[in-house]
Amino acid sequence: MRVETQGPEAKAERMTKPIRDTQGPRHVAIIMDGNGRWATQRGRPRLFGHHAGAKRVREVVDACPDFGVKYVTIFAFSTENWKRTQVEVAGLMSLFRRYITSEARALRKENVRVRFIGDRVRLDDKLINLMDELELMTADCTGVNLTIALNYGGRDEVARATRRLAQDVADGRLRPEDVNEETLPKYLDTYVLPDPDLVIRTSGEARISNFLLWQSAYAEYEFVDTLWPDFTAEEFGKLLAAYGARDRRFGAVKA
Ligand code: FPP
Repeated sequence: MRVETQGPEAKAERMTKPIRDTQGPRHVAIIMDGNGRWATQRGRPRLFGHHAGAKRVREVVDACPDFGVKYVTIFAFSTENWKRTQVEVAGLMSLFRRYITSEARALRKENVRVRFIGDRVRLDDKLINLMDELELMTADCTGVNLTIALNYGGRDEVARATRRLAQDVADGRLRPEDVNEETLPKYLDTYVLPDPDLVIRTSGEARISNFLLWQSAYAEYEFVDTLWPDFTAEEFGKLLAAYGARDRRFGAVKA
């Protein structure tokens, strides 16, 4: 993979999309659902829907700076998705490899910092290398933070975090009385990210399917009927505007 030059021109180009300061959410998490149904409605195989869905990722990420969204986290593959047919799983893995390879330069040019969350153990080495490369290649980007959840499950994440935390306690690096709401999240995959303010799920299903369980404790939710391959920047903008009108109290009573 070719790394973009560091020259002043490249840098100026990467800085062309400053994040707007708005009342909207800073961190939006998205459950991109409905690819399969979208394809079936067209008499096409499910993978056709996933390919169409992948194209929407760019549109949404590109729109983020205009709406003041600094962090966007997308659910690409869950720990439960391995239960799908071998053909679909292999097709999705191949799509992720192709997506990273083909989008890397554009993401860097757009000043997008990419991170991956999830457990890498079941992923193949080629994909892991591409993920590492993309993270490294965009590590100095200062625009939108795109986090891709791949082989991610909220319960799995908490279990992995707890295992490492328990090891730190066993090794004397952490005292049990210091385990609290501030220390535990440091062990989560998302430790560098703020909690999501808004979680969007497409395709009419109203459930969170093991996505960012700890982090979304106080998030607002939007469940929309649109199937992910039909989700546009315009609809995204409307949801963000609706969020701006909400009154978030975090359990408190407004004075
Ligand atoms: C859910 O739709 C979608 C997935 C399990 C995969 C999400 C993947 C993409 C949008 C592809 C590209 C992503 C990246 C980062 C390249 P579904 O298959 O469950 O749809 P259904 O509920 O209609 O069957």
